[in-house]
Amino acid sequence: SENAHLSVVVVGASGDLAKKKTFPSLFNLFGLGLLPKDFTIVGFARSKMSDEEFRKNISKNFKEFKDKQEEFLSRCFYHSGQYDSEQSFSEVAKILKEKEGGNSANRMFYLAIPPSIFAEVATAAKSVAVSENGWNRIIVEKPFGKDTESSAQLSRDLATGFSEEQTYRIDHYLGKEMVQNLLVIRFANSLWEPVWNRHYIANITITFKEDIGTEGRGGYFDEYGIIRDVMQNHLTQMLALVAMETPNSLSAEDVRDEKVKVVSACRPISPEDIVVGQYDGYLDEDEKVAKDSITPTFATAVVHIDNPRWAGVPFVLKCGKGLNERKAEIRVQFKSNPGIYAEDSERNELVFRVQPNEAVYYKVNTKRPGLSEEIAMSELDLTYKERYEVRLPDAYERLIYDVVRGDHNLFVREDELDAAWKIFTPILHKLDAEKVKPISYKFGSRGPEESDKLIHRYGFQRSKSY
Ligand code: BG6
Repeated sequence: SENAHLSVVVVGASGDLAKKKTFPSLFNLFGLGLLPKDFTIVGFARSKMSDEEFRKNISKNFKEFKDKQEEFLSRCFYHSGQYDSEQSFSEVAKILKEKEGGNSANRMFYLAIPPSIFAEVATAAKSVAVSENGWNRIIVEKPFGKDTESSAQLSRDLATGFSEEQTYRIDHYLGKEMVQNLLVIRFANSLWEPVWNRHYIANITITFKEDIGTEGRGGYFDEYGIIRDVMQNHLTQMLALVAMETPNSLSAEDVRDEKVKVVSACRPISPEDIVVGQYDGYLDEDEKVAKDSITPTFATAVVHIDNPRWAGVPFVLKCGKGLNERKAEIRVQFKSNPGIYAEDSERNELVFRVQPNEAVYYKVNTKRPGLSEEIAMSELDLTYKERYEVRLPDAYERLIYDVVRGDHNLFVREDELDAAWKIFTPILHKLDAEKVKPISYKFGSRGPEESDKLIHRYGFQRSKSY
């Protein structure tokens, strides 16, 4: 089916995600020459809009490949309808059939809609809009439920229309350059793999910080909170890649088998191992936020992995909005080296800076240059933009490209999702049931001090040059 026509149906085409990510990424893939020669894109949503209006709308977010815009847009169409209506989906199918012109066709359904309507859409699409002479794939996005149980229900809902093999669950952090680099740095370099365990590593911290608030998404955010919004998915995915055993091969199933294994070995978060916070001003930022909301906008949790490689090594997951900077990184802190320099040296750290300014750097003790005999901390530094001139694709470009190619590697399998929920479900239920009030912190600060205290209790040493 290499030369088959590709038909993409974006359900929820007028939403934020579709406008900011889905369409620009499809367009960039076209610009890069990575879409099949024949393709059609149909935007589907409730609001009424002409093809022309739709094209104008989506192209507002196109930034590159100006000379290719027109050609791309000429293959984009819009159809308005109801999400739970077979009638609407058969109208979409009619458009596709006409554009496909009787050739063999693959169809991709991108669900940029709230999960509460996944089931209806999957069922309607399945019964009247799937291709009969090519593959059919469905792309879905979090939130995948609110806990283990609701997530399992969602999976069952989706399965009414599409099999696991046809399902691509996006966690866009897996599409980021540096996150994909984790396995390469770990497994392709003889320097790291032998020391990647409890004998040499003191702790691993995975950090997600944003310097913004909820930016018009207060309604959604207040219902979910930071643990469900990023910790259960983005941070846990990074943990899986940094902590997993060597997969048998790089096939999607082998990689995901190992991810499931390590995530299942994570002990559920215990109440002493979590700090939750809320920035001041959160309650007044958005009218959709409850006035007495106890939704956390910040959380630090310590995860313990019960397997021989990691016994005793704390994994710190730290995330928040309304902080002092925008940054995502994975910091592997090695144990101190005993001996003659023990007093004066600091701990080595290998840092994967996911964003901004992608880099991998290793903090080393080195002799201060010159007549001095002091030790100073320095860095072996691979900062991407200094070393490479290549354009780094947006995470969504990478992921949509992989769906077109049928590569499941960077998508979350159902058992993996379930294992990830099991780490957080008990503590989430407890926080909700006991109405635990988050600690207030100043917008634009480093977050509540209690977070630092928790991390220090687990032996994290902040380097002097940090
Ligand atoms: C999303 C969360 O999954 O990730 C948002 O819902 C968050 O709250 C976003 O802002 C961060 O993504 P990125 O790629 O900007 O780091």
